[in-house]
Amino acid sequence: MILLTGGAGYIGSHVAVALLDAGLDVVVLDNLSNSNPASLARVHSICGRPVHFQQADVRDEEAVYQVLKNYSVTAVIHLAGLKAVGESNERPLSYYDNNVVGSMRLLAAMQRAGVATIVFSSSATVYGAPSYLPLDESHSLAPTNPYGRTKFFVEEMLRDMHASRGDWRIGILRYFNPVGAHESGLIGEDPLGVPNNLMPFVAQVAIGRREKLTVWGNDYPTPDGTGVRDFIHVSDLAEGHLGALRQLKEPGILTLNLGTGEGSSVLQVIRTFEAVSGRSVPYEIGGRRTGDVAACYADPSLARTVMGWKSTRSLMQMCADHCRWQSMNPAGYAGA
Ligand code: NAD
Ligand code: WQD
Repeated sequence: MILLTGGAGYIGSHVAVALLDAGLDVVVLDNLSNSNPASLARVHSICGRPVHFQQADVRDEEAVYQVLKNYSVTAVIHLAGLKAVGESNERPLSYYDNNVVGSMRLLAAMQRAGVATIVFSSSATVYGAPSYLPLDESHSLAPTNPYGRTKFFVEEMLRDMHASRGDWRIGILRYFNPVGAHESGLIGEDPLGVPNNLMPFVAQVAIGRREKLTVWGNDYPTPDGTGVRDFIHVSDLAEGHLGALRQLKEPGILTLNLGTGEGSSVLQVIRTFEAVSGRSVPYEIGGRRTGDVAACYADPSLARTVMGWKSTRSLMQMCADHCRWQSMNPAGYAGA
């Protein structure tokens, strides 16, 4: 049985599908602070098998311990946490509490229960401003906001666990920009309020839920002047977790980028979305967003070498699947 913390959320629901499709059993622990349990019912419809669900907070060590014991958990995939960069500047303590304290309590519960295998959701944001591209795993780590620092500190905690105990199996996955949705259109990203990220904003403009997109800057030193990112299909990302679990047969620590290795610009995303959806995405050019870098994309070759994983889905498919999810669920899970 695999414990998936944060499994009711955007990435977690797709990881649940990948695990169930591979024949594994899954128990989700989530406090539902940023998700709707309807996602798990949808996972059941997609896979024909249910996930077990425990509503609890990852900071509640006793609750986590009970789940580990009661479900005979053998490995943990840890996604629970807060993820909005802007909000982390305004409420840093919430981020340290949920992300750092939450991870610490989880590790303590695992240690008590004798579970020593963990895959952790880290982020490309731990690198900070790139000093070279593509970003490989040996690039220096210098996150520039509280959210990124929480991811960095949890990575450090995991490196210390590895150094202090020879028996742990640890996977640190640094995600680039996850987008898209399961091809069924049944699960996807359902941000509360105004989306912070590009793809959900584009999708909401395309279906008419928002009037227009603001492109944050067109004067970057990139081919068309807009920001360049490594967008990766969430189903490819989810499959990377399965690869990591399979790789963690022996004690050790793995740190891997999960990206496509290709950068796409904001304007490329808009045009691709328009082309695959047949809808228009009106936009205006605004000033640069504070904290943004011109370009950020991965060298994903280590993940391929180490676990035979690489992304397979194109930007067109990311846009098509994101559009299908948004069109089938214009108000997200709340409208279901
Ligand atoms: P999400 O908000 O959709 O999912 C996170 C889930 O964790 C939610 O269901 C939320 O209710 C739950 N949660 C939050 N705090 C909790 C707590 N204290 N106890 C129990 N559950 C809690 O976000 P997501 O996009 O699916 O991200 C999942 C993970 O991946 C996060 O750790 C995030 O930092 C990381 N990540 C996300 C991105 C991205 O762009 N989406 C990129 C890099 C890394
Ligand atoms: C992408 C590009 C924007 C919105 C963030 C986090 C990162 C990771 C992934 C968690 C940029 C532009 C965006 C809009 C725009 N999350 N944009 N108009 O900033 O690369 O990464 O999500 O770990 O930590 O920082 O992603 O989708 O916000 O932006 O022009 O309304 O789209 O300026 O160039 P980002 P994003």
